[in-house]
Amino acid sequence: MKQREFYQARVERILEAALPIKTPHYLSEAMRYSVLGGGKRIRAILVYATGEALKIKPELLDSPAAAIEMLHAYSLVHDDLPCMDDDDLRRGKPTTHIAYDEATAVLAGDALQTAAFETLSSVNSEICAENQLKILNILATASGVNGMVKGQAIDLAAVGKLISENELETMHLNKTGALIKASVLMASYCTNDTESEKTDAQRVKLTEYAESIGLAFQVQDDILDIQSDTETLGKQQGADIAAGKPTYPSIMGMDAAKQKLFNLHQKAIDSLSEFGEEANLLREIANFIVKRIA
Ligand code: IPE
Ligand code: IPE
Ligand code: MG
Ligand code: MG
Ligand code: MG
Repeated sequence: MKQREFYQARVERILEAALPIKTPHYLSEAMRYSVLGGGKRIRAILVYATGEALKIKPELLDSPAAAIEMLHAYSLVHDDLPCMDDDDLRRGKPTTHIAYDEATAVLAGDALQTAAFETLSSVNSEICAENQLKILNILATASGVNGMVKGQAIDLAAVGKLISENELETMHLNKTGALIKASVLMASYCTNDTESEKTDAQRVKLTEYAESIGLAFQVQDDILDIQSDTETLGKQQGADIAAGKPTYPSIMGMDAAKQKLFNLHQKAIDSLSEFGEEANLLREIANFIVKRIA
């Protein structure tokens, strides 16, 4: 099995065990429905891949890997709501508000968000308290008004408007880039070590890598909305155009969007130049992000 699939299966097991089976059943069911049995798990795989690059064992990475996928699933459930992107299909299934109802989707999203922090804050004797606090701070910052939620607010305010390339980049770096960067950064703190100059220097490079692939991920998402099809995507193709969303292809044209993707990929690979084979999975993820078809 390829390493990417190995880690994908690993986080699937962790999520399966971590998600609630509690009353009210419809709420825990909606949470499980939103998270399990779908999704590329790219953010969790990034957590493990960063761990490989820094020689951190996978057992220490399970909590951030599960937490980032819960947080991401919550962002998708809310993103699909009628008051936001109003989408009916996600991961090849009806979206959570269609399968359940709107109120349940809002609550499942809320509960997934806090479940992510519950998972992250569970005691881990192999990660010192200082680093655990740092990890919590990274996810909180990346998720809220300085990260994903900020990007979503810019996205909604930009509907039907012509925005500049700079504004588009800010939107993408926040709505999608922030959680991708958090995946990499959280993993880098899954140790007992608080004062390693070497790790600090590596973190600078890893941050550069993460910012490049984070933006690249959303550029490719925008391209796929035009060039893929609903069945392959597992979500409605053409949804951005139908909703009047500014995207890389709509602002700069398809050729320039693809050139941007190519440049970002190169930048990501260059950021890893000081790492050896231990960063191969990170390199593979960068390749996957620009070549993916779904
Ligand atoms: C979709 O993310 C939303 C974006 C940020 C573009 P993914 O493409 O990672 O969705 P899943 O988790 O694989 O379904
Ligand atoms: C979603 O961006 C970003 C977040 C969920 C935070 P999109 O709206 O482009 O994602 P899709 O295309 O619906 O997956
Ligand atoms: Mg959206
Ligand atoms: Mg959407
Ligand atoms: Mg999209």
